[in-house]
Amino acid sequence: MRKHFGKLVVGILALSMTAALLTGCSSKKKDSSKWVIGTNAEFPPFEYISKADGVIDNYAGIDMELIKLIAEDNDKTVTINNMEFDSLIISLNNKQVDACIAGMTVTDERKEEVDFSTPYYVATQVMIVNEGSDIEKATDMKDKTIAVVQGYTGETVVKELGYEYEAFKKGTEAIEELKNKKCDVVVIDSATAAAYLNENKGLAIVEDKDAFSSEEYAIAVKKGDKETLDAINKSIEKFKEDGTIDKLAEKYAEAGSTAE
Ligand code: ARG
Repeated sequence: MRKHFGKLVVGILALSMTAALLTGCSSKKKDSSKWVIGTNAEFPPFEYISKADGVIDNYAGIDMELIKLIAEDNDKTVTINNMEFDSLIISLNNKQVDACIAGMTVTDERKEEVDFSTPYYVATQVMIVNEGSDIEKATDMKDKTIAVVQGYTGETVVKELGYEYEAFKKGTEAIEELKNKKCDVVVIDSATAAAYLNENKGLAIVEDKDAFSSEEYAIAVKKGDKETLDAINKSIEKFKEDGTIDKLAEKYAEAGSTAE
């Protein structure tokens, strides 16, 4: 009797260990109530780090508020994975994140790698110069020292114009370069340029509608992830229609917080 009882105990132990192992595994499974969102929080007014007015942790900006609303609309909670802009598309394909919101322009090249949501914002490239600069249109950059941010559409545009440029890791680095007169012009997205001007004296924005066409920002998901894309699109359409997105853009137009 004693002997059998011992076997039973061993048996139960073995069973519960297996169960523990199984639960251990299943807890690693994706939590469907949570979205991990990739961004590069160096792009005011869309995403930047702010101790004062963080929306998700310390992250603030149009995109951060928007993705929080979209997530809530879909009964999800959001975690931000802040990384280099160039890593965002890779992180989607590695399944490190569920979606990326980063003031990301829809381009044919990127469309080959990810799926884009309905666009939620229209921007254009502009030139930031020091006040008093003689740059009035894009072709005036021909013999000037041009700064762009690596991997941004601004880099593509300058490349297509056939001009030489220096690519910086962050917008703020390019702006410092301009302020120190080490370059003549920074090519970057319009709303971000406006945010930098709010924070820095002595700079001016030069537009050239003929040279720079409009760009649409959209949220990127892994190619074929229809479930996430549909959920996001449904909310974007709702927030476009009811004026939520316009209000967010207005609210942050004045913010001008620096991305650091
Ligand atoms: N709109 C530009 C692009 O798609 C710049 C976006 C930069 N965004 C950022 N979060 N750093 O290339």
